[in-house]
Amino acid sequence: MKQVYPILRVVGFVVLTLVLAEMSLENTDKHAFEAYPLLWLIIGVVLLFAIAIEISAGALQGVLYKSLTPEARGQFDLIEQSKQEAKLEWWRKAYKKLLDKKPVANEGEIILDHDYDGIRELDNNLPPWWLYGFYVTIIFAFIYFFKYQVFGGINQKEEYLTEVAEAELKIDEYKKNAKGLVTVNTVELLTEETDLTSGKSIFLANCIACHKADGGGGIGPNLTDSYWILGGGIKNAFNTITEGGRPGKGMISWKSDLKPAEIAQVASYVLSLDGTTPADPKEPQGELYADAEKAEENNGK
Ligand code: HEC
Repeated sequence: MKQVYPILRVVGFVVLTLVLAEMSLENTDKHAFEAYPLLWLIIGVVLLFAIAIEISAGALQGVLYKSLTPEARGQFDLIEQSKQEAKLEWWRKAYKKLLDKKPVANEGEIILDHDYDGIRELDNNLPPWWLYGFYVTIIFAFIYFFKYQVFGGINQKEEYLTEVAEAELKIDEYKKNAKGLVTVNTVELLTEETDLTSGKSIFLANCIACHKADGGGGIGPNLTDSYWILGGGIKNAFNTITEGGRPGKGMISWKSDLKPAEIAQVASYVLSLDGTTPADPKEPQGELYADAEKAEENNGK
C-alpha cells in the first residue's frame, strides 16, 4: 500500500497537467499536443519533478523515522495505524450510506407479511446512489425539455444543417483555390476575361494548325458554328479536348499536354467563338447543337 500512494499521486498530477493543458490551449481541430509538440517536453519535466518530489519526501520521512527513539517509533506507528483505520472506517460508512441496507440481523423489521411457499419479501429502502441518480435524470429531463422545446435550443437536425453548410463553404473555398481539380463533371463555362485570354493563348499555341486562328477550321472542323461532331457545350468540348476525337481523325487527347484547368479555359474560349464569322469558314459538320446552357443564355438576353 505504501508504494501505491506515491505512484497514484504522480499519475494524478500528470493527468491533471494534461487536462489543464488541453483545456487552456483551445485548438478547435487538433489536440493541444498535436498543435504544440513542445508540451510533451513540459509534461516530461513535470513527471520528473513529481517523481523527484515523491522520492525526496519518502527519503526524508525515512530519515526522520530512523532518527526517532524506539519508543517514539512505536508511538508514531500507532498514530499512523489509527489514521489508516479512520480512513478505512470513513469509506466503509460511506459505502453503507450509499446502499442504505438493513443489516441481516435487523431484517425482521422490514419483512413483509406475505409468504409464497416460504418465499418472503424484504422492504428495503431504495439504495440512495440509485435514488439520487434517478433524481438527477428527472432534473436533467426538465432542463432538456425547457432548453429544446420551450426556448428553441439548436436541435440535432439544425446542428447537422449548419455543419453541412459550413462544409459546403469550405468545399467551395477549396475548389476556388484548386482550379486543377476540374473534371468533365464539374467543369463550367468560364466567362472571366482572364480565363478567356489564357484560353486564347493556349488555342493559338496548340490548335490553329488544324482549326485556324479564327476557329474557321481546316483539318479540324469549324469551331464557330453551332454544328458539332462530338457535341457542343462546355462538357462535351472539355471531354473532346481531354480525351481526343474519334480515332484516326487527327484530334488527339490533350490531357498529357494541358492541365484540366487549362483545358477548361481553352474549351471556354472555343465556345466563345460561337457565332463569330471567320475569314474562310469550313462548311458545318455534325449536328446542330442546342443545349440547355445555350437556351438559358438566350433566355437571359
Ligand atoms: C492535328 C490537328 C488538330 C489539332 C492540333 C487540334 N485539333 Fe481539334 N479537332 C481536329 C479534328 C480532325 C477534329 C474532329 C475530330 C472528330 O471528327 O472526331 C477536331 C475536333 C475538335 C473539337 C470538337 C469539334 C466538334 O465538332 O465536335 C474541338 C472542341 C476541338 N477539336 C478543339 C481543339 C483544341 C482546343 C485544340 C488545341 C488544344 C485542338 N482542337 C487541336 C484536329 C485538331
